[in-house]
Amino acid sequence: MARHFLTGEELTSDELLDLVDRAIQLKADRALSRALEGRSVALVFERPSTRTRVSFEVGVRELGGHPVVLREGETQLSRGESLRDFALVLSRFVAAIGVRTGPHATLVELAEHSEVPVVNMLTEDHHPCQALADLMTLRERFGELSGLRVTYVGDGNNVAHSLMVLGAKAGLEVVVATPPELGPDRQIAEIATASAANGGGVKLTNDPEAAATDAHALYTDVWVSMGEDDAAGSRRAALALHCLPAHPGEEISGDVLYGDRSAVWDQAENRLHAQKALLELLVGPPRLRRAA
Ligand code: CP
Ligand code: NVA
Repeated sequence: MARHFLTGEELTSDELLDLVDRAIQLKADRALSRALEGRSVALVFERPSTRTRVSFEVGVRELGGHPVVLREGETQLSRGESLRDFALVLSRFVAAIGVRTGPHATLVELAEHSEVPVVNMLTEDHHPCQALADLMTLRERFGELSGLRVTYVGDGNNVAHSLMVLGAKAGLEVVVATPPELGPDRQIAEIATASAANGGGVKLTNDPEAAATDAHALYTDVWVSMGEDDAAGSRRAALALHCLPAHPGEEISGDVLYGDRSAVWDQAENRLHAQKALLELLVGPPRLRRAA
């Protein structure tokens, strides 16, 4: 049965830490791995993207594979073809399927019928590939993940959820500060807490000032996510993170985004390296576990 990456819960704590280390190796030598030699990967985008689209397409190519990008309206899904048939047919052509869509249930249904690994490239509830790059960026900047306090201030949806699930598993203390009506999903918070490892954990609050105290990094995201038609960290911290796209002057100031404390551009670049390591793990030949 294919191994999927839908929320990040699928990885053990050791696998996650190994993956981050591997991503750092792949960054040091972009031509190091040819894990996808001769294979193709479908990248299905039902929502817009800059970083995810380019980093996956470039990453698959650098691993020796062939990316097949499918945008909304380009497949028979837009004319009513079932997710089951779509998944079964793509499984005959490609070695993995990346999907960006709205409802998380759509991704889950597609994965249930896929015979090849399915990778979540963002749903309304989860953005686990972003969290991989976030962890890699923190590891580069601080050396160790365990013991770091990372405070997320903003909407408690996909980016916050994945930071909670994967961050706590990697040993971060993830503090999520939101307005009361925009808090994270309780069930996802419970999952993140239950799967925490290496001293990590999750705290939820409505007080951004207190949450930012002693944080090693402050993280924020847009106020209005894709698919939301209507609808900050202000303390100085060692590092400022943002998954991008950003709206300078809204959820983050231009001074912070472009300033010395910003790790945002490394964070964006690291999508490439982290996803290459993920594709190696899911699709590529087995690798030795890292030495203890
Ligand atoms: N951070 C992120 O996923 O960016 P894109 O929406 O541009 O892919
Ligand atoms: N929360 C944002 C993240 C974009 C990468 C969104 O869903 O639009």
